[in-house]
Amino acid sequence: MKNIKIIVADDDKAIRLVLQTALKRAGFEVTTAENAAALWNCVQENFADLIITDVVMPDENAFDLIPKIKKINPNIPIIVMSAQNTLMTAIKANELGAFEYIPKPFDITELISIVNRSIKEKKESINNDIDQKEDFPLIGRSKSMQDVYRIMARLMNSDLTVLITGESGTGKELIAKALHEFGTRKNSTFVAMNMAAIPQDLIESELFGHEKGAFTGAIDKKIGKFELANGGTLFLDEIGDMPIEAQTRLLRVLQEGEFLSVGGTNPIMTNVRIIAATNKSLAEQIKLGAFREDLFYRINVIPIKLPPLRQRKDDIPALVNHFISSNLNQTSSFTIEKEGIEYLKSYDWPGNIRELENFIKRVITLYPEEVVSQEVIKNEFSILGTGNLINENKNLKSLEDYIVTYLSRFSIDQFDDSDKGLYQSVLLEFEKPVLNYVLKATGGNQIKASKILGLNRNTLRKKLRLLNIEYSKIYD
Ligand SMILES: Nc1ncnc2c1ncn2[C@@H]1O[C@H](COP(=O)(O)OP(=O)(O)OP(=O)(O)O)[C@@H](O)[C@H]1O
Ligand SMILES: [Mg+2]
Repeated sequence: MKNIKIIVADDDKAIRLVLQTALKRAGFEVTTAENAAALWNCVQENFADLIITDVVMPDENAFDLIPKIKKINPNIPIIVMSAQNTLMTAIKANELGAFEYIPKPFDITELISIVNRSIKEKKESINNDIDQKEDFPLIGRSKSMQDVYRIMARLMNSDLTVLITGESGTGKELIAKALHEFGTRKNSTFVAMNMAAIPQDLIESELFGHEKGAFTGAIDKKIGKFELANGGTLFLDEIGDMPIEAQTRLLRVLQEGEFLSVGGTNPIMTNVRIIAATNKSLAEQIKLGAFREDLFYRINVIPIKLPPLRQRKDDIPALVNHFISSNLNQTSSFTIEKEGIEYLKSYDWPGNIRELENFIKRVITLYPEEVVSQEVIKNEFSILGTGNLINENKNLKSLEDYIVTYLSRFSIDQFDDSDKGLYQSVLLEFEKPVLNYVLKATGGNQIKASKILGLNRNTLRKKLRLLNIEYSKIYD
């Protein structure tokens, strides 16, 4: 790593310092820049082999600077870090030929490994013009969505097959469309076909078309979706519901790049990008013999897993605002009180974003001119029989159910900064009531308690001390 020079540009002094220290320790030469002008100076002096830069700086946005930098140093790897964690940031960074996009806050070890990798690869730059695509319809900046955006951004210039999985209503179709619209095939068609919505015996002819008279009812020749999507993208929705014979045919098309229509004899060449989606576990389907394993490997080239809404509750306020502004007519003055939004965050949303969207539409229709209070929201939940506030109508049969329900009340990001780590925190929460319960039941008798618990007495003692449980002092 000798003689590799890195510029770190960020208006936040603390970040500059942290990065400088870590990079120096890793053996790099480092210069820092506190704004875009300083960064530009360093670049002009031809100082750098690699740039790590923040996006928003006081004098200029790094995204405006990157094309200029690339002009004088086309192959320089640029690592963009940003606290504006939207899909657009990730896409823009990618389009501008940045080597990697890192959402803030970031892990320093990860950053160093990205630096090392980028130096190795010295990626060719892609000097595309940036389109203005600011009003993109994907809402949510939670960590789990950023992981999705990062994968998406990397896919923008590729034709790889993607398999999107996620519960119903998590946005699988929206993501599929976005991959098409931001990809190289955006000027060709996006054709969607839902395997669950079409009678099973018609799926093959829908997909591949049929010749006149190929089967009873085939009165005319029909062009299939594969042919319609030629040059573009074919979205195979609910692929887990595809009949096994159609799977065999699909596999053959993917392998050979050509197909026969039902009853046809002339092979038709295809040039189709496949995006598939399912809310079923294909692994399960394979076990059940309902899905071909070889087809699974063919389509699962790039997996994208969409998180359920309950695991990214921090996105709820932004989604609510988005659905309000997209469903409201301009004259109306509808808002939801802060407490009302908080209440929405306490619900688990088993129907995910679709359920939230429908809920907002309903409330807007019923209370178009109002500031909607928490009471109103609560009332709407009870009318819908949704049984809000976690678990009211859930069947909690086992300890596992309780734990899962408990965990699902938090967005996964919330665990990120817990100092003990999630596993330890959960263990503590579990141990304390168990020990307390048994000690209470045995009148504080540690010998008895340790027998019931199946714990060695010393271990029990240690745990009591660790957990600050007082029984030992009182009864021992
Ligand atoms: N990140 C998002 N931002 C804004 N709207 C979203 C987002 N994700 C999903 N939606 C909206 O939520 C609704 C459901 O999304 P979509 O139809 O893509 O879900 P799905 O995963 O395909 O569901 P299903 O499995 O039931 O088909 C759509 O109206 C979509 O526009
Ligand atoms: Mg769908």
